[in-house]
Amino acid sequence: LKPVRIGICGLGTVGSGTVNVLARNQRVINARAGSDIIVEQVAARRDNPQVDMTSLNVTRDIFEVAKNPNVDVVVELIGGISVARELILEAINNGKHIVTANKALIAEHGNEIFAAADAKGVTVAFEAAVAGGIPIIKSIREGLSANRIEWLAGIINGTGNFILTEMRDKGRQFDEVLAEAQELGYAEADPTFDVEGIDAAHKLVILASMSFGIPLQFEKVFTEGISKIEPVDVAYADELGYRIKHLGIARRVKDGIELRVHPTLIPEKRQLANVDGVMNAIMVKGDAVGPTMYYGAGAGAEPTASSVIADIVDVARTLTADPEHRVPYLGFQQSSLSDSNILPI
Ligand code: HSE
Repeated sequence: LKPVRIGICGLGTVGSGTVNVLARNQRVINARAGSDIIVEQVAARRDNPQVDMTSLNVTRDIFEVAKNPNVDVVVELIGGISVARELILEAINNGKHIVTANKALIAEHGNEIFAAADAKGVTVAFEAAVAGGIPIIKSIREGLSANRIEWLAGIINGTGNFILTEMRDKGRQFDEVLAEAQELGYAEADPTFDVEGIDAAHKLVILASMSFGIPLQFEKVFTEGISKIEPVDVAYADELGYRIKHLGIARRVKDGIELRVHPTLIPEKRQLANVDGVMNAIMVKGDAVGPTMYYGAGAGAEPTASSVIADIVDVARTLTADPEHRVPYLGFQQSSLSDSNILPI
C-alpha cells in the first residue's frame, strides 16, 4: 500500500490514545484507509509513560512537524489557541493536510483556517473537535445531507455531565468530581471552559455551522455554565421528576438561528435525561428523517482518538485513491444561505 505519513503534534491524553490505537489496530486501519498510515514524527514537550516511545521519531519542537517535507498530514493535538493557530497556518502554507481535535481553535478561528486551506487546496478535518468519539460531524455532513436541519440539541461536554451525574447519584461535591474529571483526562487544560459552558459553546458553534451552512460565530452564543448548580438544585429537580442537564441548543427561529448553552430541566423519562457520566448525546432533527440521536463517550483518550483516526483515514483515502475513483473530502462547506443571522436571546 502507498504510505501516508502523519506528524502528530501533542502527546497528552488524545495524542497518546491516537498513537496507541493506531498501533493496536494498524492492519484494519490501513486496510480501510487504502494506504499504510505511518507515524513519521511526533512532537511532544515530554515523553508520555502511556506510550511506547522507543519506536517513535520524537521532537520537542512542534514547528519541525509543520516543516517536515516527509509529513503529508499534520495531526494537531496540542489544544489552546495561539500556538495551535500558528502551527496549523504554517502547516497549511507548507501544503500539509490537517486533522485537529481543537474545538476552541475551529470555533474562534475556523473561518480564517478554512479560507487558508481552500487557497492551498488542502483538507482540514475536525471530527474529534465535537463530542469525543461520536461521529457527529460525519453524520451531519454525510448521513443527513438530504435534510434541511430544523434543530439540534445535546449534551456536548463530558466533564460537565460527569459532574452533574455524580452530584445526583452519589451526592458528591462539585469540586471533588471536577478534580476526578481532570485526573481521568476529561477536562480541558483550563477546566473553567468545561464548567462555564465555553467548551460546549465552541462545539455548538461548529455543529450549527455544519447544520445550517452559516459562518462560525462563537461570540453570538448565549452561554451559561453549571458552576452555580448546587446539590440542593439537583435534589429538588429529582423530587419533581426532572434531571438537570447542560445542553447546547441550535434551532431555526423566525428571523435566523438561535444558539444557546445553559442548564435545563428535562423530564426523567426522556432519553437525554438518562445520558449519564462522561457520555454525550446529540439529537438532530431533519425535515426528511425526523428526529435522530447520537450517543457515545464525549471525552477520554481512546474515544477521542477514534475520531482523530477516522479523519486520518478519510484524508488518506482522498490522497491515495486512484484519481478516477477519488471521492473528494467534503470538508467544511459554508453555503450562501440567507439565514446566517444568529439571534441574541
Ligand atoms: N473537556 C471536554 C469534555 C473534552 O469534557 O467534553 C472533550 O471535548
